[in-house]
Amino acid sequence: MDSSFMEDRQLMRTQLNLLLQTTRLWDSQDYVQHGDTSCYLHSIAVAWYSLRLARRLQIPVHAEELVRGALLHDYFLYDWHRKDSPRLHGLRHPFIALKNASRCCQLTWRERQIIQRHMFPLVPLPPLCREAVLVCLVDKGCAVFEALQGRYRRLLWAQRMARLACLSPSVA
Ligand SMILES: [Fe+2]
Ligand SMILES: [Fe+2]
Repeated sequence: MDSSFMEDRQLMRTQLNLLLQTTRLWDSQDYVQHGDTSCYLHSIAVAWYSLRLARRLQIPVHAEELVRGALLHDYFLYDWHRKDSPRLHGLRHPFIALKNASRCCQLTWRERQIIQRHMFPLVPLPPLCREAVLVCLVDKGCAVFEALQGRYRRLLWAQRMARLACLSPSVA
């Protein structure tokens, strides 16, 4: 395990704990995203693999903003599978997530880019910074993995993400 792995894990935990204290991110555990993966674990996975991909490809990024934006990229706070959820979820949820996140966080320009533009090209607003491009790509990879993998592998993957997150907010 290289030193950047440990540093990245610490960065993830720090940013996640900060957001758990100031947002309703913890509630996203109650909402299914893809397959049987919760929105919470999906967001952690997207943040983690975006950060690791940046390291692997040696792409210079603002790591804290990358992780915060990725953790909030699907902060829409409803179950999109339900009939009473907002219509046209695929098109609208980046804007709903941005509105929700703006209410509880002072977002930077990069964080706003990450949240608002992660559904490109379905939503025809291209990401304009490296961090937003990474999240846009990794989000799609995670979505495919979560939707297609077998139940057993998904469970192993969810456990890994749960360990990364500690799965216990510092404030309940
Ligand atoms: Fe999304
Ligand atoms: Fe997503």
